[in-house]
Amino acid sequence: MAVRNRPDAGGELTLSMRWRARHHAPPRPCTHRTGLTVSYERRNIREMQGYTWGEQPQDADTLKLNTNENPYPPGPAVAAALQAFDITRLRRYPPPLADDFRDAAAAVHGVTREHIVVTHGGDELLRLALTTFLDPGVPLGVLEPSYSLYPVLAQIQDCPLAKVQLDPDYQPPADTVARWNAAGSTLAMVVNPHAPSGTLLRAEVLEAMAGAFRGVLLIDEAYVDFVDPAHGYDAVTLAQRLPNVLLLRTLSKGYSLAGLRFAYGIGNPELLAPIVNKTRDSYNMDTLAQALATAAMRDQAYASGTWLRVRAERDRLDAALSNLGLVAPPSESNFLLVTVPGYWALGARAVYEQLKSAGILVRYFAHTGLADKLRITVGTPEENDRLLAALGALAGQPSRGTGA
Ligand SMILES: Cc1ncc(COP(=O)(O)O)c(C=O)c1O
Repeated sequence: MAVRNRPDAGGELTLSMRWRARHHAPPRPCTHRTGLTVSYERRNIREMQGYTWGEQPQDADTLKLNTNENPYPPGPAVAAALQAFDITRLRRYPPPLADDFRDAAAAVHGVTREHIVVTHGGDELLRLALTTFLDPGVPLGVLEPSYSLYPVLAQIQDCPLAKVQLDPDYQPPADTVARWNAAGSTLAMVVNPHAPSGTLLRAEVLEAMAGAFRGVLLIDEAYVDFVDPAHGYDAVTLAQRLPNVLLLRTLSKGYSLAGLRFAYGIGNPELLAPIVNKTRDSYNMDTLAQALATAAMRDQAYASGTWLRVRAERDRLDAALSNLGLVAPPSESNFLLVTVPGYWALGARAVYEQLKSAGILVRYFAHTGLADKLRITVGTPEENDRLLAALGALAGQPSRGTGA
């Protein structure tokens, strides 16, 4: 256990002991009414809930503004790569390290291919970070609220959470890292731009956090492509300079390829080595996915054109939603987290349901602190107009308590 080497770690020893006690307790298999054992899961797997994924209807009519996909299709270079793909290549195993993709991504980021590891979606990188850098029983450092998959992955690894509540403006409190260190965390996850609020932390803040943290700081940049370049935000240089920074990038959002399941990590070769050589599946990215992702990465002009359009629509949508009373914190992402005001006739859940029955999906989280909010993905101008028309109609409903 990592905590063994941490004489200053204090309370987490108790935590570790509690974990051991639970772990070494006699097995309590789940039994059927007949008395037959029907569950073979590990205890922590049996006790956990699993991730609740966003609704994914596959029809063309539903307006999907619930899982932050890019509203524009993959670019022509991806279509051409698909057309040109030689199917006989599927007879052989894929290139294990995806070097063509790594070279394309390295050229974009000004790093070497050794600074990049490819993964089956960003979610696989998160899981690999946990299995590589965090012993079972040791707390994962997280901020609250955050990407709701982090706690689920921690449960799979049988790790508790060292949770730090964000300030009301979604900034991490000054003692965040001190608390993670005190808990003995050897891995922490920070999403930037933040999900679900879309707010951006400056790279200097992240640098200070990484410098003070005793473990690996994973900066989840799933939405970074939508950050306005005027901010000059850049964490890639951090990942090069600091030994404990791992960046998560994905093609799901910025490159319109959520269905392809292609992402990558950026970090120092020494940090990535155990993931590359030990914990990942040797052939985690298939040959076709590598070809399409490489084509997408090489066509920066197309992808960045979609980011520009999303940013323009984000500003327009933000202003129009504010006019309806639906105010969001400043977002540098491709979504807005609006609060449904108390004077609206319907609460956030009812608005979500009404929109759903009108064929428009947005994301509603029942969590504490988010129950009066909706997360809305920025769509195309036409899609946003459809959403605004539906919300405008709901805003006009008579207020609660009138008996209407
Ligand atoms: C904050 C955050 N991180 C990571 C991911 C992982 O994305 P993917 O597995 O599609 O690459 C998502 C997906 O929604 C996300 O919202």
